Amino acid sequence: MVVSIERTDENVSSARQRLLGWYDRNARVLPWREGPGAALKADPYRVWMSEVMLQQTTVPHATPYFEKFTALWPSVADLAAAPDERVMAEWAGLGYYSRARNLLKCARAVVNEHGGVFPADEAALLKLPGFGPYTAAAVMAFAFGKAANVVDGNIERVMSRLYAVKTPVPQARPLLRELAARWVREDRARDWPQALMDLSASVCRPKSASCLICPLREDCAAFAEGQPEAYPRKAAKAPKPARHGVAFLITSEDGFVVERRPDKGLLGGMLGLPHLEWRAEVWGEAEIVFPSIRHCRDAWENLGTYAHVFTHFALNQQVWRIELSADEMTAFLREHNAYQGLSWADVKTLPTVFAKALKL
Ligand code: ADE
Repeated sequence: MVVSIERTDENVSSARQRLLGWYDRNARVLPWREGPGAALKADPYRVWMSEVMLQQTTVPHATPYFEKFTALWPSVADLAAAPDERVMAEWAGLGYYSRARNLLKCARAVVNEHGGVFPADEAALLKLPGFGPYTAAAVMAFAFGKAANVVDGNIERVMSRLYAVKTPVPQARPLLRELAARWVREDRARDWPQALMDLSASVCRPKSASCLICPLREDCAAFAEGQPEAYPRKAAKAPKPARHGVAFLITSEDGFVVERRPDKGLLGGMLGLPHLEWRAEVWGEAEIVFPSIRHCRDAWENLGTYAHVFTHFALNQQVWRIELSADEMTAFLREHNAYQGLSWADVKTLPTVFAKALKL
């Protein structure tokens, strides 16, 4: 592993001063953040919630969810007392639903094991459900103002450029963490990672770095090389396997049928449309039958196919729709009493993979 620029403590201090000065002038105002001037006092509950939501999601996408959750459940004790289904429904659209389950487990652990107060201790935070090294460091820094090595994908990008790290990610991750740790100080411990995050969001962007306005330009090996966007280097990705499914949209005037998914597995515990197995082969028309609707095949309409990419596979899902009269729907729901959890729902409570079907 070659690291192109060795830095003295003096170099680091002067570059830190420049970035922190830039941050003082440019910091984003975010509803969970204690920023320069400290208009808002950081609350560990809000910081933790924002970090869980922001994993894999952008600030603009997560912010309305953050506002909604903290309005519904202003404290960790309120969240701990919330019904699981309500929390899962409000999470719909944020993705990675195991995080929502861990959110609840963690809130309950904070209430039951820590008297409703997040511990200001990295090792204790790491024992809480859903906490990994990133979240623990983020809560230590952003909520408690403690020196912690907060490294997400965006900070990795800044480090990979500052040092022109030639090793591709993910192999370079341990090195990038180690490089980031060299910049952590007690002084302005809360602001430092927030400054790096803001720089990465507005200046050191993935595809278009604005080096001319970057306060770290003179420290940056990738800028010196002339091609900052070439970093972080990426290993070639294996293509995701394709899966094929069929979702059933059973509608009547005032709604459509949904079912609650089993607690274990993909999208566990969320509402979804009834569907056929997500399998490697495309479903042929003759195989597509919704077992209990005794309408002739002609009553079903093929609305087309849409794509949805999960972490481990890419799904192509056909959508078949049938419109029932109010009486038929009542009969259908009665007949399905044996099914677990068939009910009505608003589209906003569905995970994106099913909400897309309704767009067709
Ligand atoms: N991305 C992840 N955590 C963040 C935070 N606290 N502020 C801004 N962007 C973030």
